[in-house]
Amino acid sequence: MRAFRSAIGSLPWLVLTVSRFANADCECGYSVNKTSDAHFGLFTELQENDFLHHKGDNVTKFGWRPQEFNVSKGDSTNPYGKDFELHNLELNPLKDAQSWSGESENGGDAGLKLWVRGDHSHGYVSSAELASVRSDVLYGSVRVGMKLGQTGTCGAFFYFFNNSQEIDMEFLSREFNNSQGAVNLVLQSPETAITHDAVNSSTYHVQHLDFRPDRGFHEYRFDWTPNRVAFFIDGEFVYDMTENIPSVGGHLQMNHWSNGNPLWSGGPPNEDTPMTISYVKAYFNSSETAPHETYKERCPTLDPAKVCQIPDQSKAPNGNDAKTYFFSQDGPGKTPGQETFTLTSKASNSLAPSLPLSISVIVALFGWALL
Ligand SMILES: *[C@@H]1O[C@H](CO)[C@@H](O)[C@H](O)[C@H]1NC(C)=O
Ligand SMILES: *[C@@H]1O[C@H](CO)[C@@H](O)[C@H](O)[C@H]1NC(C)=O
Ligand SMILES: *[C@@H]1O[C@H](CO)[C@@H](O)[C@H](O)[C@H]1NC(C)=O
Ligand SMILES: *[C@@H]1O[C@H](CO)[C@@H](O)[C@H](O)[C@H]1NC(C)=O
Ligand SMILES: *[C@@H]1O[C@H](CO)[C@@H](O)[C@H](O)[C@H]1NC(C)=O
Ligand SMILES: *[C@@H]1O[C@H](CO)[C@@H](O)[C@H](O)[C@H]1NC(C)=O
Ligand SMILES: *[C@@H]1O[C@H](CO)[C@@H](O)[C@H](O)[C@H]1NC(C)=O
Repeated sequence: MRAFRSAIGSLPWLVLTVSRFANADCECGYSVNKTSDAHFGLFTELQENDFLHHKGDNVTKFGWRPQEFNVSKGDSTNPYGKDFELHNLELNPLKDAQSWSGESENGGDAGLKLWVRGDHSHGYVSSAELASVRSDVLYGSVRVGMKLGQTGTCGAFFYFFNNSQEIDMEFLSREFNNSQGAVNLVLQSPETAITHDAVNSSTYHVQHLDFRPDRGFHEYRFDWTPNRVAFFIDGEFVYDMTENIPSVGGHLQMNHWSNGNPLWSGGPPNEDTPMTISYVKAYFNSSETAPHETYKERCPTLDPAKVCQIPDQSKAPNGNDAKTYFFSQDGPGKTPGQETFTLTSKASNSLAPSLPLSISVIVALFGWALL
């Protein structure tokens, strides 16, 4: 963003934009609820991904690392193994960088796609998985705009450290019927790490959904604090858990897979099917020392005026509602000390001054800055 400012600095609106945000710099972090409320959650770190506009062929430039590994079907009831492959990940932004809906570059829904392939003739179902580059996520409010795959897959968004420190939101397309769906909410525990089956655990819940998760984008969210994990759908609280709360830093992850197990993923599908991510917005604390030290420099004493409340998404982010709020797009200065990703990758933005600027890129940044 900085690189563009000099190029467009003579335009009168810029002054307006800068002054408008001068007093709201989020130096003391991001909060769930107001700091004056009886209960609020405060987080020092931010990672926002706008996958409707992230472009390129390297998702690691946006803070996510592809996972490549194979799981054989073993001696269990799984008819197939799983084969997590790089080529099943696709960044597919909107053609028009100024828009929030419309045609995508490669067709179909715009967003980050995790494909499960229909050809499983080699005994493996070709699947997709990503983990955040950051491995220090410890407590946070994590939101994902997501549309699930259609037949015989498991799609999941989760926090993971190990098999007993894990927060899962798992969607099984076999649980969707004509008009409704479900999401399996799980906090894994030392017991489930041994049994590999969370179904009878106190921190397992099948949340009914009054919509089909594969028919549109919805926001799935968990607020994880030391004593509680609360789950939300399109901004509405649905369920919470107070046992087996993870307490170590880990990665955020997402995957989309099938092994044909009739009791879990079902399938496998006979056609390629994508799970599509329109955004990830994670506001979290770090388990590392360095981020807390830089936070202390930005915010020596907690000043409520320097805490930015995280807006609640209250609608399914589809169509006219697909445009959602990002601190990283809300004018300069709302992400002090944070790594942010704009239209394309960070790396290509830093090259921007030496490249011809296309009008549409300027207009897009413009649009966001003025909102
Ligand atoms: C936000 O406020 C609601 C309603 O009072 C409360 O239930 C919830 O625990 C609060 N969230 C956090 C993270 O403190
Ligand atoms: C996150 O870290 C900040 C700064 O250390 C702290 O004030 C806040 O209570 C922490 N949040 C949670 C949910 O533990
Ligand atoms: C992808 O981007 C990451 C981070 O910038 C970089 O380390 C890596 O080498 C890139 N991979 C490829 C294949 O270009
Ligand atoms: C996984 O198995 C496939 C064959 O099904 C093979 O081509 C691939 O190299 C394997 N990948 C890894 C990471 O072992
Ligand atoms: C996961 O990590 C925690 C914290 O280090 C540890 O106590 C627990 O035993 C580990 N669980 C498994 C299944 O390895
Ligand atoms: C779909 O499942 C829900 C419960 O999960 C049930 O109430 C509803 O009647 C089902 N609808 C159809 C059309 O089967
Ligand atoms: C879960 O509990 C039910 C009822 O007690 C039992 O039939 C089933 O075997 C249990 N499943 C596992 C995986 O422990």
